[in-house]
Order: sequence, then structure tokens, then C-alpha cells
Amino acid sequence: MNVCVLGLGEVGLPSARYILEKNMKVFGYDINEDAVGRAKKLGIEATTDWRKIPFSQVYIICVYAGLKNDSPDFSSIYEVCRKIVEKKRETSTSEKCLISIESKIIPGLCRKLYEEIFKRHVYLVHVPHRFWGGDPVRHGVRQSRVIGAVDDASLRKGWAFYNDLLRIPLHKVSSIEVAEMSKISEQAFRYIQIAFAEELKMVCNELGMNFDELRIACNTKWNIEIPEARDGIGGHCLPKDSRYFTSLTGLARLVQSAMQVYDAYKKMIRKLK
Ligand SMILES: NC(=O)c1ccc[n+]([C@@H]2O[C@H](COP(=O)([O-])OP(=O)(O)OC[C@H]3O[C@@H](n4cnc5c(N)ncnc54)[C@H](O)[C@@H]3O)[C@@H](O)[C@H]2O)c1
Repeated sequence: MNVCVLGLGEVGLPSARYILEKNMKVFGYDINEDAVGRAKKLGIEATTDWRKIPFSQVYIICVYAGLKNDSPDFSSIYEVCRKIVEKKRETSTSEKCLISIESKIIPGLCRKLYEEIFKRHVYLVHVPHRFWGGDPVRHGVRQSRVIGAVDDASLRKGWAFYNDLLRIPLHKVSSIEVAEMSKISEQAFRYIQIAFAEELKMVCNELGMNFDELRIACNTKWNIEIPEARDGIGGHCLPKDSRYFTSLTGLARLVQSAMQVYDAYKKMIRKLK
């Protein structure tokens, strides 16, 4: 079985390596020469030249999708999906491949790609990544993940690949939209938790109270877990994914407020430096 990983960054590279370790034939594709170089060093057949990638039975999409003017921008995902369709056409195969989108997206995108780009001639699942570079052993590729699919046949294919072959524990949901929503909800929830810690720290500063002592005291209660308030909300993912969340409806008032808290906190930190 050929498996092609598209996007060999923080998430795609360890995924490709993990699949290689499971003795599958892995090809990697990225537009960035450095990313390709890193993959090659790990023994992955990687390239920036899409023509060199053979038809694969499984395509795993791990490209970075970001924001444009604060709105979700999935152009990179569209681009690689079109490339897969091209490859299928070139090889004139009628074989239906499995497409797994691991990048974070918003509800509705997978079904749109399935209908408009793939014209339903693929199996399509969404298995959003929960990768955390701080602890890649416990929170890396092989950790419990949510899986959703566009139909039952896709779910069976996705399950067989992730659960049976890769041994990744899965939580199945009834629709691909729930899987899409699950990831950005996890992220928005985490964003709010951190923003609360930051707000509490600002209140403590105003009151002349020690935030760390207060936090530890509160956390002795069984259902309280206030995180630390460090230099802000780190990484690029939490702020981006929370924007995905607020882009969905006008109802995300709590997440919107958390963003305002975070802005105020950043200003305070800048002043203290
Ligand atoms: N980094 C994390 O901890 C983490 C955790 C969970 C989920 N995710 C999600 O996984 C996805 C990838 O994140 P990442 O952190 O690996 O990003 P990254 O920036 O480290 O890597 C993305 C890679 O995709 C490549 N790429 C971009 N556009 C491309 C295109 N059109 N064709 C081919 N390659 C392209 C880039 O060159 C880059 O090497 C994102 O949706 C992110 O939100 C990231």
C-alpha cells in the first residue's frame, strides 16, 4: 500500500515517520525544500515535485491552513486536493483512494471537498490531529483521536487504516461535521481556560496579590484546574483555531471576550518587559 503525506511540517513529518515505522511505503510531498530535506533524512521518499509522487491508496493531508484577514483560509487544502484529483486522472485509475484530512478545518469543508473536488470518487475521513510537540511520545501521532466520515464506507476504510493498521485509538462520531467541530471546540475551550488565567493574573496584579499562590490554592479543589498564565497563548494554533470557532456564528461571545482578555494581557506583558 502506498501512503502519501501532504505537508511535512510539525504534524505531517512525525505522521509520515510513524507510518514508515509500520512498514508501509510512504511518500511525502511539500512545497518547502527544507521540510522535504528533513523528511528525506528520516528515510521518507519526499519531494517538492508532485509528478514524482505515484498514485497512492491513502493520502493524508497535513498542510497548514491559516487565516486571511482574520477569516479561515483553506486555499492550501483545496490546492492539494486538486492535485490528488489530477493524479487520479493521470493514472486513469478507477480505484477509490482514502483521503484523510488531519489539518484543522471548520464544519462543512470536508463534505464540500468530497462533493465539489472529489465528485464522491474517494473515501473521505477527518481525523484531526492532537499533536503536541512538547510531549511527542504521549501526545504525538499515536494518541486517541476523533474520526468522522462522509459515509459508512469511508468510515470503514478510515477505521481499518487508523485503528487496524496504525493502531491509533479512535473515537467514532456520527458525522464528519461533528469531527470537524470537535477539534476547534477543544481548541476554543483551551483558549478560554488560558484567557481566564490571564484575566485572573491581571486582577491579582491590580489587587497586589500573588497569582501563583492563589492559583495553587484554587486548584486544590477537585474540579478546578486553572492553568498557568505565562507569556501569553503560545503557538500559532490556539489563536487561529479560536478564530475558526468565532467565524461560524455570531454566538461565540465567550471566545470573543477571551480574545479581548488576551489582547489586554499581551499589552500588560509588553509594559512589564
Ligand atoms: N503543530 C501542532 O501542534 C498541531 C497540532 C494539531 C493539529 N495541527 C494542525 O495540523 C496542520 C498542520 O500544522 P503544522 O503545525 O504541521 O504546520 P507547519 O507549518 O509546521 O507545516 C505545514 C507544512 O505544510 C506545507 N504546505 C503548506 N501549503 C502547502 C501546499 N499547498 N502544498 C504542499 N505543502 C504545503 C508547508 O510548507 C509546511 O511544511 C494545521 O492545520 C494545524 O492546525 C497542528
